[in-house]
Amino acid sequence: MGRKILVLHGPNLNLLGKREPEIYGKATLGEIDGHLAALGKSAGAELAFFQSNDEGALVDKIQKDGPAHDALLINAAGLTHTSVALRDALIFTGKPFVEVHLSNVFKREDFRHKSYLSNVALGVITGFGPASYRLGLDALLSHLDPKKPF
Ligand code: DQA
Repeated sequence: MGRKILVLHGPNLNLLGKREPEIYGKATLGEIDGHLAALGKSAGAELAFFQSNDEGALVDKIQKDGPAHDALLINAAGLTHTSVALRDALIFTGKPFVEVHLSNVFKREDFRHKSYLSNVALGVITGFGPASYRLGLDALLSHLDPKKPF
């Protein structure tokens, strides 16, 4: 059965490829989304993508489109460490989500060790560069299809 997954990217991730490449790598957001879309397609899943620098726009998107998807994959970027509103919107959907980060947030400043999302997420993947998204997608697809081998 086809699965619908909503992929969300938070503030400054539109700058991927140009932004601190020594931390976040050289891949652009378009390249990451393109790769994920192809992976999703080959797994029979339909992916929708949304990036915003605006917390309210992300909350609106989650409220409007989250419930119609089977699961969400989110890199909330800086909002991970600050946003009760994003956490509340994700809980509202009632859908499982995986939190991903390109960098290993635990190797970085203390303020990045706190996430408002982790303890309501299905799981967290952090530190594998763009592959964090691929691993997160795979984890969600396994979760949604109990017949898929681990
Ligand atoms: C990030 C980590 C966050 O701490 C940071 O604010 C980001 C990106 C990551 O993908 O590594 O913008 O979520």
